[in-house]
Amino acid sequence: MTIVSKDINKAVTILNNEDVVAIPTETVYGLAGNIYSEKAIHKIFEIKQRPLFNPLIVHVHSLEKAEELVSDFPEKARQLARAFWPGSLTLVLKKSPSIPDLITAGKDTVAIRMPNHPVTLQLLQELSFPLAAPSANPFGCISPTKASHVERYFKNSISMVLEGGTCKNGIESTIIGFEDNEPVLYRLGSISLEDIIDVIGTVKIKNKKDIAPDAPGMLERHYAPKTKTYLVEDVELFIQEYKNKKIGVIRFSEPKPLPSVEILEVLSKSGDLKEAASKLYSTLHNLDTLHLDMIVAEVFPDYGLGKSINDRLSRATK
Ligand code: TXA
Ligand code: MG
Repeated sequence: MTIVSKDINKAVTILNNEDVVAIPTETVYGLAGNIYSEKAIHKIFEIKQRPLFNPLIVHVHSLEKAEELVSDFPEKARQLARAFWPGSLTLVLKKSPSIPDLITAGKDTVAIRMPNHPVTLQLLQELSFPLAAPSANPFGCISPTKASHVERYFKNSISMVLEGGTCKNGIESTIIGFEDNEPVLYRLGSISLEDIIDVIGTVKIKNKKDIAPDAPGMLERHYAPKTKTYLVEDVELFIQEYKNKKIGVIRFSEPKPLPSVEILEVLSKSGDLKEAASKLYSTLHNLDTLHLDMIVAEVFPDYGLGKSINDRLSRATK
């Protein structure tokens, strides 16, 4: 049985005991363990059914701690850390020899971030080690943005979810690495590409095929509901072909009623992409419990967080 609790001391005890705890962050809940405990890290891979070739993100409470874990901190990485930490940016940097291979899947780089959530920052401060934490969902499924989502996924396999409320950003961190000293985008996320470019200038964007081996979060099918999901330009036109089906629709801001659909979810009536991003996964989780024949989402605007939303929706439809 899983306990959902705000008791940070209890989480500390479990983590010191080489076991795992689900933790809140401002992006999504993570499944956390001591980066130096083989037992805890194996358990994370096992209960997520995550392939061992897919490396984990290391969570720290300060820039100084991050510096200890890497062998090189390029100036542009430092600028990004200063601009966005604590926050939803993960930096992939050359690792220090002390980072276990299990964390990095044998790579010579490590992914690090300082999450912006008071509960988890306090937890990290009370531990003598950083936490590895992938999103707390079975491999390929929708990431959790509430403690109850984690509970539903893992009620028989983890002993505690540290309660931290609803994740306010609601999609995963943006991942930036460096190749030949040049910044490269590995995963779109909670910080828009435009905001990154404002700080460090041009960023190389690899096409999906190039990215896949480096960041398996970029696998084509990922973040997927069980219900068949479609991403379309014109929802009205698309659903005309499915008159007798039970359909759930996700739209950005258009509140126009669609009488033939079972449920219409508008992610931001005021047209705010940040609000829409924060509601995306909880809406998918909810629609996925309604025994619909299909989920139909409209394509979001192709800028700012709209790009990140489209990225996740397109992977949910594969
Ligand atoms: O917002 C987030 O980043 C959440 C919260 C819990 O912090 N975590 C998260 O972890 O999304 P996960 O494991 O679901 O996704 C981590 C991604 C994977 O796609 C992984 O391949 C990539 O980070 N990654 C980790 N280490 C890497 C490395 N050394 N080089 C390239 N990609 C890496
Ligand atoms: Mg994930």
